[in-house]
Amino acid sequence: MLTREENELLCRVGPGTPMGEMLREYWIPAVRSEALEADGAPVRVRLMGENFVAFRATDGRVGFFDEGCPHRCTSLALARNEDNALTCIFHGWKIDVSGKVVDVPSEPPERRAEFAAKVRVRHYPVREAGTIIWVYLGKRDTPPKFYNFTFNELPASHVFARRAVMHCNWFQGLEAVLDSAHLGIMHQGWIGRVAINSDLVLANTNTGPTFEFLMRPYGFREGALRPLADGSIYARIREVVLPFFSFIPNSMPTQRGMICAIPIDDEWNAQWYIGYDWAKPISQENRDLMMRGTSGDPNNFCSDMGSWDNMWGQDRKAMKEGHFTGIMRCVPYEDFIAEESMYPVVDRTREYLGYSDVVIIRSRRMLLEAARGFKQGKPAPWQDDSIDFGKVRAIAIRFKGMPWTEIDSFNPPEPLPPMEQRVNA
Ligand code: FES
Ligand SMILES: [Fe+2]
Repeated sequence: MLTREENELLCRVGPGTPMGEMLREYWIPAVRSEALEADGAPVRVRLMGENFVAFRATDGRVGFFDEGCPHRCTSLALARNEDNALTCIFHGWKIDVSGKVVDVPSEPPERRAEFAAKVRVRHYPVREAGTIIWVYLGKRDTPPKFYNFTFNELPASHVFARRAVMHCNWFQGLEAVLDSAHLGIMHQGWIGRVAINSDLVLANTNTGPTFEFLMRPYGFREGALRPLADGSIYARIREVVLPFFSFIPNSMPTQRGMICAIPIDDEWNAQWYIGYDWAKPISQENRDLMMRGTSGDPNNFCSDMGSWDNMWGQDRKAMKEGHFTGIMRCVPYEDFIAEESMYPVVDRTREYLGYSDVVIIRSRRMLLEAARGFKQGKPAPWQDDSIDFGKVRAIAIRFKGMPWTEIDSFNPPEPLPPMEQRVNA
C-alpha cells in the first residue's frame, strides 16, 4: 500500500514532475525503425506527456523534434519531408535534420538568415539500435552512455521489436511485467500450449514461488524459485534494469525477450516486447507465432483488444468450459487487460499486498527513493558508466545442488533430465 502522495510521485510523469524529470534522464525506446521511411511521413510520438515528431531524412538520419513548429506550433507531422529537412506547411519554415532552422520564407529576404539563426528548435539526441529509434529527452548536454543490451548490438534480422499501447499508467505496466506470481495462475490456460517455451509448465506445478534478490548497479536480479516434487528447483531468474527494462527468463538456448513499459503520459503507456536471438535470424514463422492472436500491427499490437465497453471480449462460455480467464486472443492480452482494468491510474492506497508482491514493493521503494533523490539534486541512478549492459541476461532453469545465485546465465549448468509434467488444458 502506498500513500496518496507516494502514488502521485510514482505515476506523474509530465514536465516538472519529479518522476517525469528523472525518467527523462534515460534512453527510451520511442518508435520502431521501420515506421520511419526516408522522406516519408513524419510520425507523431507522445512520451512523458509531451508531443514530438520523428522523421527519417533523405540520407537516412533520424530527426526528433517537438511536434509544434517553432513559429506558431503547427504540427510538424504535417510537414514536407525532403532535402534532409522538414518544411512546415503553414509558412514554410524549414528545419534541417540536425534541428537548425535553415529558411524562414515568411520573413523579409534581407533579414531571413539572421532571424533563422536565432530560432531555437527543441530537438533531441537519438540512436538507432535493435530495430528501434531511442531518444534521450533529458537535460544533460551529454546524454548517458547508450545501452549496449545484447539486442541493441544484433542485426535487424535477429531482433523482433513490437509495441502495444494501453490505457493505463506506466507503473501498472512495469508492475505487471515484474510480477512473476501470476504466471501459473492467470496464464494457466495458455501455458500448456505454448510449445516454444515448454518449461513454463513447471510454473503451473507450483503457483507460490519464493523470491530472492541480488542487488545490481543497474537494478536487481530476481530469482523466482519453485521447489519441485523431485527435489529440484525451477528458477526463473529475471534481470531488471531500472527504471524500465525487464529481461524475461526462459530456457531456450539462444533466444530471450525483454519487456518494458514506457510512459506516454499519466494515463497511457507503450509496452515494448523485444524478442531476440543472438545466434541466428528470427524466422518469419517465429515472428508470426509471436504475433499470433494480436492485432497484427507491430506498432501497436493490442489496438483491437477492446475496453470496458465489451469487457475486452472476455469469453464467459470458455471460462465455464475450463479456460481460466476467458481471454482467448493471446497471452499478452491477459496481462494488458488486467492492467487496464485497474483504471488508468490505480489507487494504491486501497491494496492488500502479500508475500508474492515482494518484487512490486521493492521496485516501488527503489523508484520512489530515486525520484526523491533526483529532486534533491542527486544523479539519476542505475546508469553508471562502468555498467556493462551487454552482460545482462535472464534465464529459466531447473537445477539441483547449488545456490541459484551461482547460476551463470552465460554458462548455465547442464539441464537435468525432464521430470514428469502435469500439463493444464
Ligand atoms: S507555423 Fe510553421 S511556419 Fe508558421
Ligand atoms: Fe503475464
